[in-house]
Amino acid sequence: MQIRNVRIRGKQKQGLFKVDIENGIFGKILPEETPQEEDKEQTPYFLGSRQDTLPDFTDGSEKIYDAKGRMMMPPFVEPHIHLDCVMTAGIPHYNMSGTLFEGITTWDEYKNSQPLTVEGIKERAKAALRCMAGYGVQFVRTHVDTTETSFKGVEALLELREEMKDTMEIQTVAFPQNGICSFRHGKEYMERAMQMGMDCVGGIPHYEFSRELGVESIRFIFDLAEKYDAMIDVHCDEIDDGVTRYLEEMAAQAWMREMGSRTVAAHTCATGSYNDAYFAKLLRALKESGINFNSCPTASTSLDGRFDNYPKRRGITRIRQLTQAGLNVALGQDSISDPWYMPGVGNLLRVLEMGMHVEHMTGYEDLSHCLDFISTKGAKNLCIEDHYGIEEGKPASFIILDGRDDYEVFRFQSAVTLSVHQGKVIAKRRPSFGKVMF
Ligand code: FE2
Repeated sequence: MQIRNVRIRGKQKQGLFKVDIENGIFGKILPEETPQEEDKEQTPYFLGSRQDTLPDFTDGSEKIYDAKGRMMMPPFVEPHIHLDCVMTAGIPHYNMSGTLFEGITTWDEYKNSQPLTVEGIKERAKAALRCMAGYGVQFVRTHVDTTETSFKGVEALLELREEMKDTMEIQTVAFPQNGICSFRHGKEYMERAMQMGMDCVGGIPHYEFSRELGVESIRFIFDLAEKYDAMIDVHCDEIDDGVTRYLEEMAAQAWMREMGSRTVAAHTCATGSYNDAYFAKLLRALKESGINFNSCPTASTSLDGRFDNYPKRRGITRIRQLTQAGLNVALGQDSISDPWYMPGVGNLLRVLEMGMHVEHMTGYEDLSHCLDFISTKGAKNLCIEDHYGIEEGKPASFIILDGRDDYEVFRFQSAVTLSVHQGKVIAKRRPSFGKVMF
């Protein structure tokens, strides 16, 4: 396969490239000698596109793809989703209030009305993965409930990880939805999930019955990860409670055990309610530990702040401050059409839009590299950087977007016109076009 007339993200000033792909690996990446760019007027593609200038394979056999000046970049990364729950909104009924608590009761009603089966979970998870693939996602980390004690979800996602390994890369997290120390035999269920081959140890310390049990759960999580040489990804402080402070314990454990690069603190919504003096002190430990962060701006702004009248808190972590301090924050979806958050569709550009707005990251400098939040930063969380990126010799996994740079893609919510995983086309799209009559 050869990609012609393509901009490469980060190398836009060097003009257009041609990119060779051989046996699923990136070959030579060279400047085009005679660049062919249809959009000479430099108008945004969304406004300027005519149907005959849309990119496509020119020979019909998936050998030569003319990008016509559009941008290639590494695939989008979904660092936080619950694939065992996706695509269940409306069964047996919709969440009418949109709150977390109605989400939990609706999920219980779902499980009582529709007995979970491995095949059923796989079917729903695959439907969500197909949506995500259409929006350029190729790497996914999914949490799977280990307090759903039939373990059908764990079984289903482990099978799917294997079945889909040539199409999308899936990582699994043992996630104790109802707690580890506050759930009967919670530790044994976590151990069983790790024995079955989960990639990461999860947790939910703020949901444990007491401060002490929360701390105990974190130490157990780190012990288990060491025992199974696994990564860590914990739902941490996902609550609008300014005195919930398990993040400091996570940072301390990661620092002591030198496991920061393999650790993710997800959500950490409570940081938005911390006083600035405490956060300044906490930041030192976070930086020393080197842990990574995940935030889900669409789900969190929807679910959090629900106990506030006005003014209302935004419910998300301090994305801007953490990023400015040099810490890695990736953005994810959390939900796709489940009882907790119904609008999700698999499109990380929507998540990014929410995150950039609510964190006031709409200055030009912020927007100029905003796609990092849903690509390279997610890759760091997943520890996949050794096989991620557009470089000669790496697996040929990439996307092409109907835009020329981050700002344009963000502004126009550009379509992913091509998604290739290890040299294989997994999704393509010919974006719609329109014509304004003046
Ligand atoms: Fe989550």
